[in-house]
Amino acid sequence: MQDKNEKDFLRWADNGWLASPEYLSFWGSVFSSDLVNYVDNKTIADIGAGNGQIWEYAIQNGCLPKALHLIDPDLYISNELENYRFVQEHKDPIEDVSPLHIDTAICKQSFHIIYEYIGNKFFDLVNAEKYIIFSMPKKISWAVSDAFEEIFLPSCLDVEKAMKENGKKTVSSNIYSYPVKLPRHVWISMVKGRFTSCLHPCDDEFIENEVAWIEANLPETIEFDDKLECIIFE
Ligand SMILES: C[S@@+](CC[C@H](N)C(=O)[O-])C[C@H]1O[C@@H](n2cnc3c(N)ncnc32)[C@H](O)[C@@H]1O
Repeated sequence: MQDKNEKDFLRWADNGWLASPEYLSFWGSVFSSDLVNYVDNKTIADIGAGNGQIWEYAIQNGCLPKALHLIDPDLYISNELENYRFVQEHKDPIEDVSPLHIDTAICKQSFHIIYEYIGNKFFDLVNAEKYIIFSMPKKISWAVSDAFEEIFLPSCLDVEKAMKENGKKTVSSNIYSYPVKLPRHVWISMVKGRFTSCLHPCDDEFIENEVAWIEANLPETIEFDDKLECIIFE
């Protein structure tokens, strides 16, 4: 049987800084320090969990949830994570999971995708004391062509508006900033791998044009701060 960690295809986050131990450790520490009160001894669901690797780092840092539901139609967690007794895997879209009544719902870069698809039904499926939503700010963190910006902006959701419409109020908000430095060829491979959700529907011609723009406009080493807004609602 193939080991779960051995993949023969490129996943969106298997390349570049998103796959680096430093990045995963950065977010693991956010979960185990800043968010500890929402996580430790709580029943949590990470909806749109992807490879869930951040949890491995958070748990190694001492994070101890009572139950951790990892939900994603494309879930591909490691054997180590799977072996924690409190981890419950749901390799399904949230719409196919029995309604959850939990302490904390976490969506890291996934709420806009799910909300676009199921809208307010999300809250029938996920009844949480607190919702922790991480999303990219409207001002894109890295240098892009005008064509990229045109597809990126409509993909941004006004999370606070969506939450307010569902009777949720903001508890706190914070911007996290992760310093990225990587060779241009790695950046190009991430774009080719459609590493961010707004690139998923783009055709090959769009990607080729973006790569040509990068080659013409960006230096050999690319540096920027990857910013994510974290808003906590109740
Ligand atoms: C940009 S990725 C974020 C992954 C992870 N949270 C992270 O930050 O590494 C968005 C994830 O949302 C998942 N997703 C999309 N639709 C979903 C749905 N209806 N229910 C649950 N997850 C969904 C995708 O499969 C994808 O793994």
